[in-house]
Amino acid sequence: MLRRPRRNRKSAVIRSLVEETRLSVKDLILPLFLIDGINQKVEVASMPGVYRYSPDLMLEEIDACMQLGIKAFDIFPAYPESKKDKYATESHNPETFYLKAINKIKHAFPEACIMTDVAMDPYSSDGHDGLVEEGQILNDETLEILGKMALAQAQAGADIIGPSDMMDGRIGHLRRLLDKEGFKEVSIMSYTAKYASAFYNPFRDALDSAPKSGDKKTYQMDPANAREALIEAQLDTEEGADFLMVKPALAYLDIIRLLNENFSLPIAAYNVSGEYAMIKASAANGWLDGERAMVESLLSIKRAGAKIILTYFAKEYAQMQK
Ligand code: PBG
Repeated sequence: MLRRPRRNRKSAVIRSLVEETRLSVKDLILPLFLIDGINQKVEVASMPGVYRYSPDLMLEEIDACMQLGIKAFDIFPAYPESKKDKYATESHNPETFYLKAINKIKHAFPEACIMTDVAMDPYSSDGHDGLVEEGQILNDETLEILGKMALAQAQAGADIIGPSDMMDGRIGHLRRLLDKEGFKEVSIMSYTAKYASAFYNPFRDALDSAPKSGDKKTYQMDPANAREALIEAQLDTEEGADFLMVKPALAYLDIIRLLNENFSLPIAAYNVSGEYAMIKASAANGWLDGERAMVESLLSIKRAGAKIILTYFAKEYAQMQK
């Protein structure tokens, strides 16, 4: 036997020398859930270790994460039913707690990168990402609302806006609007290939944002399709996106790779709530080693071609590195 691949695995040093993929805390964005009030920290039942924070406690949490080396955060608000309406009006009320908190966070941590979410669902009485009229999602009318929302977030101090709604033409619409209003420096991380997935349920629990009727299949992509992701990526690139995101991550590693091979923009992947919950639930049962499963999953996402990973594991991973 002349070729013995095992020689390159014979010691920890050699294994480290031949290691192709290295994960860093610098690759990660931590999603955080915000609620109104003071001194509130409420665990999400289906996401052990993940909490909804009131703005004061979120500042403390961000401070703790910054000290661990996490510098990028994606902040999602949870609104009570009483604040929701058909047009997601609360999303662009300058006095709303989400926008006020973004502004406070940005002032407290100017060196942090703060990402916000652009979609109607947390504010919509229909629980959809777009405007619903007679059971239909109205694409172009939704763009108007998303535009107001994105501008309000830019005004509040967002570094990156993340349109997660999957309406056609939204990236171009938002880019033009941001530029026109003087927010040329605000980046857009497009949810380029966002699939109609079963893996979002814990997130919808966290935000009480599940659709009141129907599903999201007329705007989110069919899990059976890969080629369609190329069309979305092409449009987002032409329309001025700065990052292309694939979501979820683990069941879509082929899509991450496809976009990374065909486009030059940095690829992000969203390791979603259900992917987190799966590992946490089996680890809690003693069925697998949660820490190793976490690292292996994150590594696979990076190996597939994602430069950036949005993950609820970011803090745990950073703590492991200390
Ligand atoms: C909605 C949105 C969702 C997520 C991020 N933005 C859920 C959905 O589309 O229903 C899911 C994130 C996760 O599951 O972690 N605009």
